[in-house]
Amino acid sequence: MARRALRNTSPRSPACSWQGLTGGALLLASALLRCASAAPPSGWSPPAPDTFPPGPLGEAVRHGHELVVHTDRYRGRFHGNGLTCQSCHLEAGRKAGAIPLWGAWGVYPRFREASGHVDRMTERIQACFRFSMNGVPPAPQSPDMVALESYAFWLARGLPIGEDPPGRRFLELPDPRHQPDRRRGKTIFQSGCSRCHGPAGQGLRTEHGYAFPPLWGSESFNFGASMHQLDVAAAFIYANMNQERGNRLSEQDAWDVAAFVNSHQRPQDPGFTRDVAHTRAQRHSGHRCLYGTWQDGQLLGEGVQPAPSPLPPQHEGRF
Ligand code: HEC
Ligand code: HEC
Repeated sequence: MARRALRNTSPRSPACSWQGLTGGALLLASALLRCASAAPPSGWSPPAPDTFPPGPLGEAVRHGHELVVHTDRYRGRFHGNGLTCQSCHLEAGRKAGAIPLWGAWGVYPRFREASGHVDRMTERIQACFRFSMNGVPPAPQSPDMVALESYAFWLARGLPIGEDPPGRRFLELPDPRHQPDRRRGKTIFQSGCSRCHGPAGQGLRTEHGYAFPPLWGSESFNFGASMHQLDVAAAFIYANMNQERGNRLSEQDAWDVAAFVNSHQRPQDPGFTRDVAHTRAQRHSGHRCLYGTWQDGQLLGEGVQPAPSPLPPQHEGRF
């Protein structure tokens, strides 16, 4: 199927359906443009869960799926916090607009400003282990890495290679009208998030692992993770944590609650240099993030636990 045809599909995501109704043609056009990337390509869907292929491919895919959904069972091996891949790559990496793993498969290798060079899929996955999982990445040819790549390969079955499919990554939000306000965000958190993520953002831990993942603190993603950037967190939250009937977040609400979530301490940036101010200047300038700023009487990044897998000192990329 031609790529152009895939792009021209109408949006299917419920998160988008109301947006075009409020204004004139321009607004409608921009709403459709922004929404187009929250749905998978028209006429395509990832293979149904539990339809793993037979043979050695099936074994690798099954193991990859297990790693995405139950990453926590591998705690200590390469996993270092209360999250699983699925905490952010929702529905085992299948959900469009929630950084689906099928969206990633066909677009690597690609140049990433974050790393400063052409990344292979392997390196991108390693980055999520190091930053989002606050862990130690598996080696490129290890069975675990091969399994994760096999799983993404299988999910992406039938998608063209070399271009971004609709639904890849997440829907970006426009710039906020007002400076994100963590105090307003706190009120939103208390009314809309804390019943699942806990009053102190600690998540809900059961004997089988976390039923709801932690949002900050030692069990969360570290200061180097993409989710620590306010624009990434706000967009993710707006699209994916916004399902309460009668309690919809506005775009500004999403920015504010993202600012609240990300104004707490969490594990150190693995690229930590000699101090917080230097690390902020080296690695966080130009980002929308609060690392190295004072929030509620604390300097973010000061006195926090070190990352289990620090970047080598010569590493020039960011994350
Ligand atoms: C705390 C949330 C979080 C967790 C947990 C997480 N990731 Fe990610 N991941 C992200 C975000 C956010 C991005 C996209 C960043 C961007 O493109 O701006 C991403 C990007 C990726 C990409 C590239 C996507 C693309 O389209 O380019 C892959 C592949 C990936 N992650 C794999 C994994 C795997 C495998 C795990 C588990 C070991 C994992 N991630 C855990 C947040 C997370
Ligand atoms: C009904 C329960 C529920 C509510 C309410 C909820 N979440 Fe979540 N949230 C989840 C679950 C469950 C996941 C992980 C998805 C999975 O494991 O399948 C998650 C994942 C996340 C993540 C990515 C993983 C992490 O821990 O960093 C963020 C960020 C997040 N939620 C923020 C919020 C914010 C902010 C709100 C309020 C606006 C909110 N959530 C409301 C259940 C909820």
